[in-house]
Amino acid sequence: MTFNASLHAHSDHPVAAPLSEANTERLLRRAVQGRTRPRLLDLGCGRGAWLHRALTAFPQARAAGVDVDAQALALARAEAEALGVADRLTLHETPAAEFRAGEGYDVVLCVGATHAFGGLPATLEAARRHLAPGGVAVVGEGFWEREPDAATLRELGSTREEFGDLAATVARVTEAGWAPVHGHTSTLGEWDEYEWSWTGSLTRWALDHPGDPHSTEALRRATAHRDGWLNGYRGTLGFVTLVLRPVPSPGV
Ligand SMILES: C[S@@+](CC[C@H](N)C(=O)[O-])C[C@H]1O[C@@H](n2cnc3c(N)ncnc32)[C@H](O)[C@@H]1O
Repeated sequence: MTFNASLHAHSDHPVAAPLSEANTERLLRRAVQGRTRPRLLDLGCGRGAWLHRALTAFPQARAAGVDVDAQALALARAEAEALGVADRLTLHETPAAEFRAGEGYDVVLCVGATHAFGGLPATLEAARRHLAPGGVAVVGEGFWEREPDAATLRELGSTREEFGDLAATVARVTEAGWAPVHGHTSTLGEWDEYEWSWTGSLTRWALDHPGDPHSTEALRRATAHRDGWLNGYRGTLGFVTLVLRPVPSPGV
């Protein structure tokens, strides 16, 4: 099996995005509030952290998660069983863009996974297709806090055009026919916590498993990631999570 650095790197953080525990909780509650039997769909769910949280907090909720990472989905299943919520969770190992549901969802999440659709506009289109009437989308996307230099773009494997600044990112969303009803811009502190957790978890795993054939690679990946962050995108790449409602077309 190939080494899945991301699984170790994300083992210690509330979700696989630069969001604190409290802000993750707040965004979820804003999305779910007022719904008695919420149905949630997470596109690019990873280890299922958002869905576990929702299923635990809302005993009437049901949820589906979609991801291409079989190991992450296995962990999502195991954690759901440990939490006693597995009977309300369905997991699909399939590319998010190919996922076809037989029902609409009240809350469609895609946080840190818009690349699964090739970017924000296609993610918003997919979210709209999956929404039940009255539903909301929760979309987490990167943006430029300041102009990226060439080294930062190289480090991230991004282009300048991949993201806009915060205002341009929100404009892309509203121009696509969505209204933000809540949002959270990750702070530098949340980013730091996320990156220290990412690199720290992976480093700890490597040092705790010196005999593992992947430990040298794990330490190398953690170091390279930390260097790339500290010398490159720290303070340049931002992250915003928006709770969105579709704006009805005129005359509808
Ligand atoms: C940064 S993680 C975010 C996970 C989760 N949304 C969270 O916030 O905890 C991105 C996830 O997108 C998944 N992903 C990448 N490409 C995908 C695709 N084409 N279809 C479905 N999931 C995909 C990855 O496997 C990974 O689990």
